[in-house]
Amino acid sequence: MARTRIIIDTDPGVDDAVAILMALASDQLDVVALTAVAGNSPLEDTALNARRLVALAKRPDVIVAAGCAEPLTPTNYVGGDVHGQDGLGDLVWDEPDVQLDSRHGVDVLRDLILEAPTTVVAIGPLTNLAVLAQRYPEVVAKVERLVIMGGASFHGNVTAAAEFNIWFDPEAADEVFKQPWPITLMPLDLTHQAFLNDEDLERLRTQGNEVGMRTANMLEAYAVFHQQWYGNRNVIMHDAMAIYELLNPQAIVKQGVVVQVETQGQHSRGATLIDRGMQHSQSHVLVGCEVDNDTFRSVVHQLLSSYR
Ligand code: RIB
Ligand code: CA
Repeated sequence: MARTRIIIDTDPGVDDAVAILMALASDQLDVVALTAVAGNSPLEDTALNARRLVALAKRPDVIVAAGCAEPLTPTNYVGGDVHGQDGLGDLVWDEPDVQLDSRHGVDVLRDLILEAPTTVVAIGPLTNLAVLAQRYPEVVAKVERLVIMGGASFHGNVTAAAEFNIWFDPEAADEVFKQPWPITLMPLDLTHQAFLNDEDLERLRTQGNEVGMRTANMLEAYAVFHQQWYGNRNVIMHDAMAIYELLNPQAIVKQGVVVQVETQGQHSRGATLIDRGMQHSQSHVLVGCEVDNDTFRSVVHQLLSSYR
């Protein structure tokens, strides 16, 4: 079966790390590049973390490029401690032997999309994708598919209205959702159905490879955050849902929708208004609705245990 050629646009981020390590392990996916964007941490950290993950996976063939350092509307947000101070759980790392591509991440997106049919998986703020559409509008029609982790149907995780990836750059999200490319959106109301528990972390820690050990250790800080915020240590695998969709398209129940992004609201800036009316059943935008966590967990372990 032909592999799906993908670029992952990302702000690693510990849940990004799980998504990226799953993708790099899968024989269904041909990951040609990671393009970093500012979000969970400043761009210098998310780009370094992308290099670290490609080196950890022993995949020097994967291009790593740094994209946009600031959202379309500058913000004073400089990253929190949800993902640790360095954005990847504050582990000790050697300097990765994977270097940044000399091109800007947006130019890498353009060059690779024009080269061959490519799916883009966006698991951070949508700044790079918005700049791509603005700077190179001819590229939009060449994108095979855009799978996005972001938004929320009912409740945000930064404000009551806004999920982080949209909240960080609402203007970029607005731009992206106004484009005609086929979009599949994985919002919080889906991603909260997918999580790893302490049994999973122990299984990763003892599976006998460095990827498992480091992934478990990265997720420890994230588990502490979840205990404080949600009252349990089940670590929500937001970004992995965007990769899981490509591995098993039947696994996530989806429906056609129209998505509007609020950029003006005093209290609702960054909200995603997801219209699920039946008249949108054939929309070019799909939203993930339901997923079985036990099946998802088994795929995570199958992929991450395959590293040597
Ligand atoms: O709201 C969850 C999203 O925000 C995930 O992509 C996580 O990595 C953070 O970027
Ligand atoms: Ca992310």
